[in-house]
Amino acid sequence: MSARSSLVDVRNAVLDDAGLTNAQVRAFVHGWAEVTGAARIEVVNASDDARLLREAVDAGELLPAGEGRYYSRSHAKDTARSEERTVVATDDPADAGTYNNWRPASEMRPLLEERMRGASAGKTMYVVPYLMAPPGSPLEAYAAGVELTDSRTVVLHMIRMARVGVAHINDLAAPNTFVRAVHVTGDLDTLGQGTPDDQRYFVTFARERTILHYGSSYGGNALLGKIAHGLRQATFDGWASGEFLAEQFLLLGITDKQTGRKYHVCGGMPSASGKTNLAMTLAPDALGDRYHVDFYGDDIAWLRVDPADGRVYAINPEFGVFGVAKDTNELTNPTAVAAIAPGTGTIFTNVAYNADAADVWWEGRTPEPPADVTGWRDWKGELISERPDGERNAPWAHPNSRFTTTLEHVPNIAADFDVPRGVPIDAIIFGGRTRDREPLVRAITDLAEGVYDGLTLGAEATFAAEGTEGVLRYDPMSMRPFMAFPEGAYAAHWLKVIGAATDQPIFAHVNWFQRDPDDGHFLWPGYRDNLRALLWLVQLRNGEVSGTPTPVGIVPTADELDLTGMDLRPGDLDRLLTIDVPRWRQEMAHRAEHLEQFRDVPEAIWEAHRRVAAALDAPQT
Ligand code: GDP
Ligand code: PGA
Ligand code: MN
Ligand code: MN
Repeated sequence: MSARSSLVDVRNAVLDDAGLTNAQVRAFVHGWAEVTGAARIEVVNASDDARLLREAVDAGELLPAGEGRYYSRSHAKDTARSEERTVVATDDPADAGTYNNWRPASEMRPLLEERMRGASAGKTMYVVPYLMAPPGSPLEAYAAGVELTDSRTVVLHMIRMARVGVAHINDLAAPNTFVRAVHVTGDLDTLGQGTPDDQRYFVTFARERTILHYGSSYGGNALLGKIAHGLRQATFDGWASGEFLAEQFLLLGITDKQTGRKYHVCGGMPSASGKTNLAMTLAPDALGDRYHVDFYGDDIAWLRVDPADGRVYAINPEFGVFGVAKDTNELTNPTAVAAIAPGTGTIFTNVAYNADAADVWWEGRTPEPPADVTGWRDWKGELISERPDGERNAPWAHPNSRFTTTLEHVPNIAADFDVPRGVPIDAIIFGGRTRDREPLVRAITDLAEGVYDGLTLGAEATFAAEGTEGVLRYDPMSMRPFMAFPEGAYAAHWLKVIGAATDQPIFAHVNWFQRDPDDGHFLWPGYRDNLRALLWLVQLRNGEVSGTPTPVGIVPTADELDLTGMDLRPGDLDRLLTIDVPRWRQEMAHRAEHLEQFRDVPEAIWEAHRRVAAALDAPQT
């Protein structure tokens, strides 16, 4: 027997043992095992977690960080998503948009195969079947996938972030409808990250439902269920099928215990702009004891209209939380602190680490770093005690350092978080880091104006993507890094999907990040107080408050906002609730330019733009 056929036999035996019967999946596994040259394959179920953790610790890939917690360091050149190297490839040039970095599939396929060829030699190729939806969801047909990866750390992250197991792909209604996702790490020392000779490629072949990512083990590039399938592929699938939207959205529920009513809010904010905190920190005793906030999701929501009642329903396709560590503490986010406590199986990435104490630290975990620096190493693995003078004040943790934990450990996880139908949406919000112009909240009651607002979301880019921090840029619906098809079609798809609802959600733009122009302090304390803005919004939808109409939406009056117990500086509240009309007039010119980059922007969006511009130009009363 030749060496090759014996390898095939060995692989078949592994697949048989794992009970992986889907012939299409088996063929996919064999094909990529050949290309990558992996020495062996292993099929993963979520129940393998404890064993894989032990193996990872024995191999030094994970370090112990206290009871049931783990520490990992991704490569120093590999700590954030790379938008530049991320591509959507198809065989139809009409799929090219402004932000999706479209390239011909016929050109990208050989490039990726060439890079991946033999690149997993000597390694195990893990076969990770997953489902990006609650089981039984009406969108389940779009949710199954198989990630092949040569990184055990990536497997352990996938087990936390997605529903993982062979059962999810064996019994598909159509055996071929799974996303084929291949992740090959590559030699991170020699990939020229960020140089003109960058070897990395992160490509979604959207029409083939195939994802090939080469050259990173950072979660945002390597967890293919979450980032590439849950967003890029799914937004494309939602458009191609006409059935749904896949958005970078948080999803939460607010229960008013006095009236017993429950509201569901979802919304988009760019990466590292407050989604996880909004979904988590509001609970459980928000504003005294009157309200309870349920966590449904913090990064992705898929939305569709249920014909049974004409409402928009949302699911969170994920199973865990991949959260920004920075500034997570008992005061800002006690819920997150509990979700990553000892015993939760949390994996920390790129925070500071102390092997002797088996402990982790990040900026903002405590007001000051540990006083005794003995044993502490920064995110690059360098001893704090041996830092050269010039680096004394450098952060210990990478600003984009993360924690990964599962939904079951989030104390305010909703009892119905995995109901297949999803939950009905009352409000859709957009927001981001905007230091001026954007008030605390402005509500929008017209669908086209709401979609227009999302399309013109402008905010400061963050450390979650390489090389963009602080740059002011437009980030449509917070989907700029995940856009898979042209923006004009994207807007039309939104109008069509949400327009089909007979009971429409209200829209709003929120901003927790407005700053004082003189001393730079945040005008609004943020975090748990953000609930106050959301409460006003649902009250507005209920007709319980009426707000003040402005050219850019309805803002709360000072007495409509519940500010009990807050200690805002004089003047700050005023600024938070005021529209700076001259500043907004300038903004409108930029928005026109922004929209003009896009092909086929629906006329309804241009009309919304012109309505807002005309209202701003009219004499203000
Ligand atoms: P996500 O990436 O959109 O989920 O954002 P996160 O919720 O993880 O927050 C990103 C960063 O912004 C973290 O360092 C948070 O501590 C910080 N942050 C989140 N919400 C607020 C807020 O309301 N006010 C302020 N000032 N910072 C916030
Ligand atoms: P985030 O998730 O939005 O919570 O930062 C990761 C990402 O979008 O890169
Ligand atoms: Mn995100
Ligand atoms: Mn988040």
